[in-house]
Amino acid sequence: MTERNAVYTLARAKVPARLPPTDSNGVRMVIGANRGIGLALVRAQLRSQGVRQLIATYRPGADLRALAPLSQHHGSRLDLVPLDVADDGSIARFSRYLLRQKGGIDVTIHAAGILHEDGIEPEKSFADCNAANLKRLFAVNSVGPLMAAGALLPAQSRKRRFTFVALSAMVGSISDNRLGGWYGYRASKTALNQFIKTLANECRFKYPNASIVAVHPGTTDTELSRPFQRSVKPGKLYSPDQTASRILKVIEDIDQDQSGQFINWDGSRIPW
Ligand SMILES: NC(=O)c1ccc[n+]([C@@H]2O[C@H](COP(=O)([O-])OP(=O)(O)OC[C@H]3O[C@@H](n4cnc5c(N)ncnc54)[C@H](OP(=O)(O)O)[C@@H]3O)[C@@H](O)[C@H]2O)c1
Repeated sequence: MTERNAVYTLARAKVPARLPPTDSNGVRMVIGANRGIGLALVRAQLRSQGVRQLIATYRPGADLRALAPLSQHHGSRLDLVPLDVADDGSIARFSRYLLRQKGGIDVTIHAAGILHEDGIEPEKSFADCNAANLKRLFAVNSVGPLMAAGALLPAQSRKRRFTFVALSAMVGSISDNRLGGWYGYRASKTALNQFIKTLANECRFKYPNASIVAVHPGTTDTELSRPFQRSVKPGKLYSPDQTASRILKVIEDIDQDQSGQFINWDGSRIPW
């Protein structure tokens, strides 16, 4: 084989096979659904006629005061499933649950994440960095979504058109880092972005109709942002409902060609 032919063959091999996609089945999932943006995504999708079933995960022991009444109202249309994304046993049980869901899941939004938790606050400077806290942020914000995606993939058929969105954050963009601070949260979202890009590359061949993306939801009025809202410019803090409808619009508009991208809430691309 000539060198030119070898290059051509390699280039051809890199073009993913486009398979005719299987139809949507109206099943969606929100991970981290009991409050904040996840809860708003549950409410918004339950209002949509096209959503036949919604799987909503919550961390065992979480406050279910908002989800429980929705479950009573919607019956089997809303399936509440326990999942701690930083717990291997919980991920294994979740994986077995997903394998029992015949027909796969059209859209999964991973909304679980932490900025602060018991004993964890965003670091103002390097002196505030603590190895245990940094590992915890990576376990929940970076490894958690990758493991959740890993649990989802075996439950999807190769031809299936599906979307996996991980909620990332603008502060995870290295090129946008002008202020410093927030070492753990920032880096955990940067690692998440790299996981998403790497997974999307691998899935281009294994699941050619999949869209796997990281999305920045915009600064949203939730418990996560509450302690830091004083520094948000007027008009730049959005309600969870506004954010949910923007994320759903981004999902509606994306296709497989955007798989592996870091996308802003307005649909524009965020530089790494
Ligand atoms: N709000 C913003 O301004 C903003 C901006 C940029 C990016 N984001 C990202 O958007 C996502 C959602 O944020 P939010 O504002 O909705 O936060 P939030 O109101 O604090 O809600 C976080 C959700 O994640 C869940 N969670 C935390 N650790 C978990 C774990 N180990 N396993 C499973 N679930 C877990 C929480 O469950 P519990 O109730 O059990 O704690 C809760 O349901 C996060 O990834 C965040 O980084 C938010």
